[in-house]
Amino acid sequence: MYFNTHTHLNSDELYANRDIFIQHAIASNVEYIVVAGYDLSSSKRAVEIACEYPFIYATVGISPNDCKDTTEDDLNEIETLLQNPRVVALGEIGLDYYWDDVSRDKQKDIFQKQIDIAKRHDKPIVIHARDAYEDTYSMLKQAAHRGIMHCYSGSVEMAKRYIQIGFEISLAGPVTFKNAKVPKMVATEIGIDHLMIETDCPYLAPHPFRGKLNEPANVVYIAQEIAKLKNMEIEDVARITTFNAKRMFGIK
Ligand code: NI
Repeated sequence: MYFNTHTHLNSDELYANRDIFIQHAIASNVEYIVVAGYDLSSSKRAVEIACEYPFIYATVGISPNDCKDTTEDDLNEIETLLQNPRVVALGEIGLDYYWDDVSRDKQKDIFQKQIDIAKRHDKPIVIHARDAYEDTYSMLKQAAHRGIMHCYSGSVEMAKRYIQIGFEISLAGPVTFKNAKVPKMVATEIGIDHLMIETDCPYLAPHPFRGKLNEPANVVYIAQEIAKLKNMEIEDVARITTFNAKRMFGIK
């Protein structure tokens, strides 16, 4: 009954044992999983995994941290992959000013070109934004498109502005961390109709597994925390976030 909107079963940490992790997820009532690409090879792997399981979908895209040497040919390949019926969105794409590896101009250029590709094919976009919420916001406002703020860690105020321009908020492990005041405020203040849940595994394992290898089944802990903060039944959190994700990704 859970929809995990963002995993990296395509990462080296999880890929080799993906069957085991997928079995764990099924045992924990995870009904849908999205595998997110972050560069060309991980995007191809995401599509490959989505073709193996009917309840797994892929996104393809080049992340701001991986776009240093991205060429027009690479973007053409992303565009071709995007047209595979198992691919439900373009991402993760965006801006990341936390790491300094790629110039901001290059990040913005590759981000914009991928927004344009997504719009051409009418697919939503999955956004990675770190220490760059204002620049990301102005580019997305300009884009006038739709998508998901993945692993959202910004303020309540900013979340409301994103929602106004067609973006939903996906919460990951940090919402479960004891001292994570801001994510908990976002979970409390933002209406359940605009929330989704994810693990971003293998990173950011939720409490009580913080620091350990994260896996798709742990999305249950994100739902549990949101239910607690909102004083809702966990079944309702699961049902509504699943509905939100299916609507965004166009899954029947
Ligand atoms: Ni990710």
